[in-house]
Amino acid sequence: TTARLTLDARFPIGAVRRRLFGGFVEHLGRHVYDGIYEPGHPQADEQGFRRDVLELVRELGVSTIRYPGGNFVSGFRWEDGVGPREQRPRRLDLAWHSTETNEIGLHEFADWLDKAGSDLMLAVNLGTRGVLEALDLLEYSNVPGGTTLSQQRIDNGRAEPFGVQVWCLGNEMDGPWQLGHRSADDYGKIASQTAKGMRQLDPSIELVVCGSSGASMPTFGEWERVVLEHTYDDVDMISCHAYYQEHDGDIDSFLASSIDTDRFIEAVVATADHVGAVRGSAKKIDISFDEWNIWYQTRFHDVDQITGVDNWPVAPRLLEDVYSVLDAVVFGSLMISLLKHADRVASASLAQLVNVIAPIMTEPGGPSWRQTTFFPFAITSRLAQGDALRLRVEGPTIETEKFGAVPAVDAVATHDAETGATAIFLVHRGRDGAVDLAIDISGLGDVEVAEAHLLHDDDPYARNTLEEPERVTPGTVDARVDGGILHVTLPPIAWAAISLA
Ligand code: AHR
Repeated sequence: TTARLTLDARFPIGAVRRRLFGGFVEHLGRHVYDGIYEPGHPQADEQGFRRDVLELVRELGVSTIRYPGGNFVSGFRWEDGVGPREQRPRRLDLAWHSTETNEIGLHEFADWLDKAGSDLMLAVNLGTRGVLEALDLLEYSNVPGGTTLSQQRIDNGRAEPFGVQVWCLGNEMDGPWQLGHRSADDYGKIASQTAKGMRQLDPSIELVVCGSSGASMPTFGEWERVVLEHTYDDVDMISCHAYYQEHDGDIDSFLASSIDTDRFIEAVVATADHVGAVRGSAKKIDISFDEWNIWYQTRFHDVDQITGVDNWPVAPRLLEDVYSVLDAVVFGSLMISLLKHADRVASASLAQLVNVIAPIMTEPGGPSWRQTTFFPFAITSRLAQGDALRLRVEGPTIETEKFGAVPAVDAVATHDAETGATAIFLVHRGRDGAVDLAIDISGLGDVEVAEAHLLHDDDPYARNTLEEPERVTPGTVDARVDGGILHVTLPPIAWAAISLA
């Protein structure tokens, strides 16, 4: 089969913001303890952070990192994680039925981010706490000095403010599993009050209000409308969360997951714009897609296994999904969807980063390695520069149970008008044979293929594991330019990225 694509750099979707390549670190399972932090490990630095993990995080190319949760944040007291370590309390983490030792808190995590070269995005607890505690954390973090809380930060080792720019007003408050879960009306009120107070304190910050924790939530759409009616003037972004997995062997629908992401984003944009229209507001609310990934929620019910009032383990193995090539291809297509909506998706966070539904895995005392999903993220983050461009795609479709007929090939490009650098990101969802692509790039002038990466394996379930950490690595895709046409052949179930210069 063949498909024809057309790229025209004159009609950009919008600038690709670096925050689109954000991550998410939650105090969950072996993410922080035994993941990024393992003082006894041979690779540990003077603060106990694993150097090998830091290196992989830098290679991944994550910009802003959301912290410290997730469901965890709805029971978290930020004060527990600052001050002398030996005085920090051990607390129950109800979200993950674990013990939080508070060995790592705001200061240590900010130090780790400095080493990783990423920025901090903080979530405040609006589940079991309220306006005052959020204001205290903002004062502690962003006020230079002269108050008790800012002086505490200085005494705790940070003379300069953390200067946290982006703040999440709670986490997944629409979810019945969330500590302090509220109705849209109740949450909208507390989010608005918190946002107003935080802005009084520091008008320069950007605020994210909680949207839906999935497009299949029963309150989806109405939740956004009601919450934004309360908070439209107070916030900059509304969050989206989405996780995908293969259900009951339905590979075709799984391969088409990004159709759901597209629809999800477009529905939230429409809802936000509706609220804006009714208010007669010229302001636009953007999206912070601050949790997205593949997650086998039905296969791993590991957290349900930890029960009992006397059983609260420290850093248990939780949500340690092992990703296949198939997962990574779908993952790559989710990144294509985010880029296709770069005009309104201002920020996104891959959930999560190390060990917990993560692109990077570690073994205590042992090695660290890249999961299959590491590759599309690292390559896209590195090559996507300048503006996002929509491509016209004419080609075959595949039938799916969930979404009907969907394009077998999906694509997006980026183009940097200053340097002329162009990158094209492609996914082939078809399972029966290769597809030949003819991509009209004549508008770009005289360009050549600079890089051509391919993620594909004859075994779509091939994975990287402790035993075989480099079973899957990206290969090269067959790509050449001839008379203004870029010819690419994609094997079945494949993700590819091609840069032109
Ligand atoms: O990323 C894992 C969990 O998924 C987060 O804690 C929560 O926000 C979401 O439900």
